[in-house]
Amino acid sequence: MAILVGIITVSDRASKGLYDDLGGPALKQAAEGYGWKVACDSLVPDERRDIQRAIKEHIARGATLVLTTGGTGVALRDVTPEAVREIAIRELPGFGEVMRLESMKITYNAILSRSLAAVVERSLVICLPGKPSGAVECLGFVHKAIPHCIEVLQEVPTSC
Ligand code: MTE
Repeated sequence: MAILVGIITVSDRASKGLYDDLGGPALKQAAEGYGWKVACDSLVPDERRDIQRAIKEHIARGATLVLTTGGTGVALRDVTPEAVREIAIRELPGFGEVMRLESMKITYNAILSRSLAAVVERSLVICLPGKPSGAVECLGFVHKAIPHCIEVLQEVPTSC
């Protein structure tokens, strides 16, 4: 089935125009490289309500996969995991486990990312680190599990 993607960049500074959003475009290119269609994108500050509103808007516009980049770290303003958990039906811990484990082979700072995946309504939300290369790397470690996950959530007949 076709995968419709929503991309959300979470960054105080990029949303204020203090620097360009490089993470969103990098993820768009990666998603298209996997043959997925990017339906919408947005840029929000590190605020729980803004993150939650953007996720729900993207799902309302048909996104079956929502990718966020940023706000997964240890800074006090990093609240993406908390925002997603508040609206999620369930978490899929394997995504975060694999992203951190594989990323540790690239940078020891990978342990600082609280990257995760969760189900919101009937869509898969994956929270990736803010560094554009890190977001693309992490998506690369898990992308093969995404189509089956979305088929199950959308109740498309599928087999493992
Ligand atoms: N994971 C990968 N694959 N590559 C990276 O460069 N950067 C790390 C980590 N995960 C990184 C990565 C760093 S430096 C931080 S601080 C955390 O992700 C959290 O990033 P965030 O707060 O921008 O989401």
